[in-house]
Amino acid sequence: MPCPFLGSLNQAFTRNYGAALLKQYGNYCPVISRGFRSLGNDETKCPFIQKNAIVSEAPKEMSEDIVETIPPYKYEKFFHDQISAKKKDYSYRVFRKVSRLAADGMYPQALEGTENRRVTVWCANDYLGASRHPVVQDAAVNAIKSYGTGAGGTRNIAGNSQMTEKLEDEIAKLHKKPAALIFSSCFVANDATLSTLAKLLPGCIIYSDAGNHASMIQGIRNSRAPKHIFRHNDPNHLRQLLADSPAGVPKLVVFETVHSMSGAICPLEEMCDIAHEYGALTFVDEVHAVGLYGKHGAGIAEERGIQDKIDIVSGTLGKAYGNVGGYIASSSLLVDTIRSYAPGFIFTTALPPPVLAGSLAAIRLLASEEGRSLRAKHQSNVRYLKLSLLVAGLPQLPSVSHIVPVPIVGADKVALVAESLMKRGHYVQAINYPTVARGEERLRFAPGPFHTPEMIDSLITALIDAFHENNIVFNEFMKNGTCRECSMEYKVEIGQDELYKFPMQVA
Ligand SMILES: Cc1ncc(COP(=O)(O)O)c(C=O)c1O
Repeated sequence: MPCPFLGSLNQAFTRNYGAALLKQYGNYCPVISRGFRSLGNDETKCPFIQKNAIVSEAPKEMSEDIVETIPPYKYEKFFHDQISAKKKDYSYRVFRKVSRLAADGMYPQALEGTENRRVTVWCANDYLGASRHPVVQDAAVNAIKSYGTGAGGTRNIAGNSQMTEKLEDEIAKLHKKPAALIFSSCFVANDATLSTLAKLLPGCIIYSDAGNHASMIQGIRNSRAPKHIFRHNDPNHLRQLLADSPAGVPKLVVFETVHSMSGAICPLEEMCDIAHEYGALTFVDEVHAVGLYGKHGAGIAEERGIQDKIDIVSGTLGKAYGNVGGYIASSSLLVDTIRSYAPGFIFTTALPPPVLAGSLAAIRLLASEEGRSLRAKHQSNVRYLKLSLLVAGLPQLPSVSHIVPVPIVGADKVALVAESLMKRGHYVQAINYPTVARGEERLRFAPGPFHTPEMIDSLITALIDAFHENNIVFNEFMKNGTCRECSMEYKVEIGQDELYKFPMQVA
């Protein structure tokens, strides 16, 4: 049936003003409005019906065609399925209740669970205990008293304090670069810097190490720049890929010095030299090295005397420096470009006063003589743990740094061993997918300068028991100080000052 309302109008008028009429009266029309909403008794609002009382209802057959009843999306079911998938492959993460203690004599212990059981912490990245050092604590507390707890806004609006600038100057000095920029974390620093740079540089190509941390992968993905992945810490593969790259095009070579999960250290000089040979900029993540290596704690580049070979260095204030936040250091113009263009830097609240003051104090502390002494003790304890694992015949991955990974294949197995250790008073988190690839699960130990030889001995005993308890077979490499397989005497470099730690093994 033709619309009695429109039908009463002149045809030319309807043709010319149809759209406007629909807009004005469509909502009152019992037929048209069904396309937009459930009508109820709205037909009474139709100016035509009200006036002429001709039609009160659209025919049923028409409304059947128009009204669709699609059930709403089942969001909760979707989330439930996602979580179930994680639980099925044992990669579902359960955060332990662990409150690390800061008081003298308590560190590196924590209160665990709801009963506050005392455990020794083996997996914190507060590597040197800077988070509880009195100088760092005092700086943070005084900053709160003077300036409050929060920055009060983005850097542009309320958060650019003198302390912010002092901290950036200190970071730039540490890395021997003209400028530095701080971010809310190093995840953000890596993501924001890489995505912004590779988007801005025309035609930029990225060369990324296969072992790169998720933050760098995220930045590279977000840039949408073409990328090539070279084998982890393999300079030959990097050269091979760069040799095929077009000349004169901007390129970024992106990698870490100390690998967070294996403890491997990259061939830094070689990789930088290759990158520069092909006209690329080097972006190097020193997150697990800052505070820990080099005379002033600037990282592997400082230890090797090659800080100038890194074009952009990124670091964290959240691990060895015991606070939170991340940074890059580079040329003044590059830093100013990121400051001016990176949304991850621009549109977020600045780091708060206690973090700025605490980080500044921590960087200065770890650059000092006390920092050097903490680093020496740290490395000595790392050697002791590695040797103790070896002597006990427990497996360990060949790490050359302070990170000591003990492989236990299977997400279920590694979680069980971590649980057994917790029962015995040792907290170490099981590492599984997606932090490492499936089949490369591990426990990642990070002994610090405040772990005592007794704690390490107790950990080894607990590990042996935990392996037995969970039926994990391991070989005792050593019998009476020699290798079980070839009878070669096992030697390890230990300084005279460390001998006291090895009463059993050395005798
Ligand atoms: C290699 C690496 N880079 C970057 C980050 C991110 O640092 P932040 O914790 O400051 O976000 C991490 C953190 O674990 C890391 O391991």
